[in-house]
Amino acid sequence: MRVIALASQKGGAGKTTLAGHIGVEAERCGYGPVVLIDTDPQGSLAEWWNAREAETPFYARTGLARLAEDIERLRAEGVKLVVIDTPPAITATIAEVVRLADLVVIPARPSPHDLRAVGATVELVERHGKPMIFVVSGATVRARITAEAVMALSQHGTVAPSIIHHRTDFAASMIDGRTVMELDPNCRSAGEIAQLWSYLDTRLSGRTHRTMLTAGLAAAGGAALAAS
Ligand SMILES: Nc1ncnc2c1ncn2[C@@H]1O[C@H](COP(=O)(O)OP(=O)(O)O)[C@@H](O)[C@H]1O
Ligand SMILES: [Mg+2]
Repeated sequence: MRVIALASQKGGAGKTTLAGHIGVEAERCGYGPVVLIDTDPQGSLAEWWNAREAETPFYARTGLARLAEDIERLRAEGVKLVVIDTPPAITATIAEVVRLADLVVIPARPSPHDLRAVGATVELVERHGKPMIFVVSGATVRARITAEAVMALSQHGTVAPSIIHHRTDFAASMIDGRTVMELDPNCRSAGEIAQLWSYLDTRLSGRTHRTMLTAGLAAAGGAALAAS
């Protein structure tokens, strides 16, 4: 079983949106059973899940004091992936979630405020010695600042080779507990999530750097470059 945590002290970075989408996509790709956990007192992921008609991914109610124990119980029950959403502040909760995670995904919008806020999260994750991946989210299509954000983030760690763009279907799909894939599996947003999950899957399964590099090039539209 693997545990992915979504973390960033910045509200509105896309943590909850990505937690739901990663959970559903992993399940769709046969990685399940997947369990979602919401540790944000605002409970947005839990509310989204309550509005959901589909039974999977599952949701586990837990609390900070029982989190470690509950994760072990899920492992014993044969769960394959746990996706944990966290509050937008550096709290005891985030520290505990990061301690229990195998991989920390840090979403950041390509804005100076988001990029400046990344430092505190990175520090926390590094203190726990956990692998982390940045995901540029809510990016405006064809905006120059997106490339600048990727370069800025890459100074601090690995950036996922799949940018999540700002599209209304990400918000709209979640109104009734769904995801962009469940509105239209062939839309661009669904493609971005599929690419993101495929990359996270590679990282979680510890496949070789070479595979990851080729996947990254293909994602960047550089397949021809790799072949030449
Ligand atoms: N890629 C996206 N495109 C459009 N809207 C988005 C996108 N990602 C998130 N949002 C919207 O932005 C707001 C904040 O996203 P959310 O996932 O709740 O961030 P966080 O959990 O980090 O605070 C929500 O209203 C959400 O619907
Ligand atoms: Mg949230």
